[in-house]
Amino acid sequence: MRTTASSLKVAAALVLATLVTAGCERPPIDEVQSGYRGTAMVQVYNPRVLAEQATHNVVPAALPAAAEGGPLAGTIYQNVQVLGGLSIGEFTRTMTAITAWVVPKDAAAAEAGCNYCHVGANFADDSKYTKVVARKMLQMTQKINADWKPHVQATGVTCYTCHRGKPVPEYVWFKDVDNTAAGGLGNRAGQNRSTAAINGASLPSDPFTPFLLGAEPIRFTGATALPTGNRKSIKQAEWTFSLMTHMSQGLGVNCTYCHNSRAFNDWSQSPPQRTTAWYGIRMARSLNNDYMVPLTDVFPAHRKGALGDVAKLNCSTCHQGAYKPLYGASMLKDYVTALAAPIPPPAVAPPAEAVPAEGEAAPAPAAPAVTSSMSDAQVSKRQPG
Ligand code: HEC
Ligand code: HEC
Ligand code: HEC
Ligand code: HEC
Repeated sequence: MRTTASSLKVAAALVLATLVTAGCERPPIDEVQSGYRGTAMVQVYNPRVLAEQATHNVVPAALPAAAEGGPLAGTIYQNVQVLGGLSIGEFTRTMTAITAWVVPKDAAAAEAGCNYCHVGANFADDSKYTKVVARKMLQMTQKINADWKPHVQATGVTCYTCHRGKPVPEYVWFKDVDNTAAGGLGNRAGQNRSTAAINGASLPSDPFTPFLLGAEPIRFTGATALPTGNRKSIKQAEWTFSLMTHMSQGLGVNCTYCHNSRAFNDWSQSPPQRTTAWYGIRMARSLNNDYMVPLTDVFPAHRKGALGDVAKLNCSTCHQGAYKPLYGASMLKDYVTALAAPIPPPAVAPPAEAVPAEGEAAPAPAAPAVTSSMSDAQVSKRQPG
């Protein structure tokens, strides 16, 4: 009896040990100090995970530069609304590049290649939704690179940053369906649903709807020790922690990459990365509202979420587990002409009758094209705090 009891104990201890360490990673683990000495601002890395990550972040070679000169695409093609100001060579190069970035021949799509967006040889036809989406995507990419420099710097993004050779980027999100407890017993706020986007935490599973679509306040720390006029709740803190968990996971970093854990709220003790992240939150929110949501009716039902909403982006869509997408490699530098900013359309020759007769006053020049600027009121240049 004795032996059985003690071997049972051993077995139980083994099971317990397995359960306790199941969430741990096999050593050795690397540590890198990222803050002042003694502030415990340390990054913990797993070299095996990093090696695996590196294989997902190989940058494809740039296409050879296009031949200089030639007519502008807008003057020879029928239906170019965004890229019309490119030379014909650069236009064709851009079409070849987006095909390789979004629907290469080996992509798991029925019609990979040009025909993923185009109908046979009629390239001007807009009847495929993918082409309408792609036009908006061209504008979104130009917008990010031109107006969100406080986040993306000169590194910028291309279609590949999000798509990586797939028509649907690997990391997108939809509104959470299941916000109620079984049997209709109250609202569980998406809790205990353990989704991958928040690293399996039992926090509210969809922090994206309030923070990356809506503009709910993320900061909840009161300004005074006692709750004087401060109505911030534990519930609110849980939503914030859910977003923070996503941000850490999306970038493959610890909380201390952006915070000094002795004062999470204090900007003066936070590294500059936190300010970059502040802009990242505003950028993701504005891209979702200004580019993704307006495409809702363009996407077919099978591309939408259970609540009929369009796929949206979060930090992982670009970062994919790296502190900078593609570990900071800039693909944009080889596609500046097409993707760095909105391209002025080709100047249209005035129709013959508009040409002023000799002696007549020339018509006033057209107003210069409005260049998009960071008009978004939320994106003030001031230091957040
Ligand atoms: C991911 C979608 C997508 C893929 C793949 C794609 N295109 Fe396009 N194509 C577009 C969009 C969007 C436009 C319109 C651009 C604009 O409005 O400025 C366009 C326009 C064109 C036009 C101008 C047609 C006209 O008369 O208006 C040509 C030519 C063209 N593409 C050729 C190609 C070729 C060749 C390929 C394959 C190497 C290709 N495209 C792959 C999205 C795509
Ligand atoms: C910031 C991230 C991001 C960038 C940059 C980006 N896309 Fe997208 N793209 C998305 C998301 C999110 C979707 C929605 C996924 C879906 O189709 O359900 C999408 C969808 C698409 C689709 C529809 C695919 C389908 O089968 O439904 C096309 C085509 C596309 N993008 C082309 C492009 C092109 C071309 C570029 C570059 C000019 C580009 N994208 C840049 C995030 C991005
Ligand atoms: C990539 C940078 C980044 C990472 C990683 C990060 N945070 Fe944050 N955190 C921020 C930013 C930016 C804000 C302020 C957001 C805003 O105001 O829009 C913030 C706000 C907070 C707040 C609210 C502070 C206040 O003033 O009330 C807490 C608490 C917090 N983070 C905790 C965490 C925890 C815990 C983790 C790890 C799970 C984490 N953060 C990871 C950038 C980060
Ligand atoms: C449209 C793509 C895109 C999205 C979406 C995005 N980022 Fe970034 N992010 C970038 C690029 C590109 C860089 C690299 C800029 C550079 O070279 O300094 C970057 C850099 C950063 C850095 C600076 C890292 C460092 O070590 O200097 C932080 C922090 C960051 N992003 C946080 C976030 C957070 C948090 C989110 C989600 C709320 C987010 N990003 C969403 C593209 C994106």
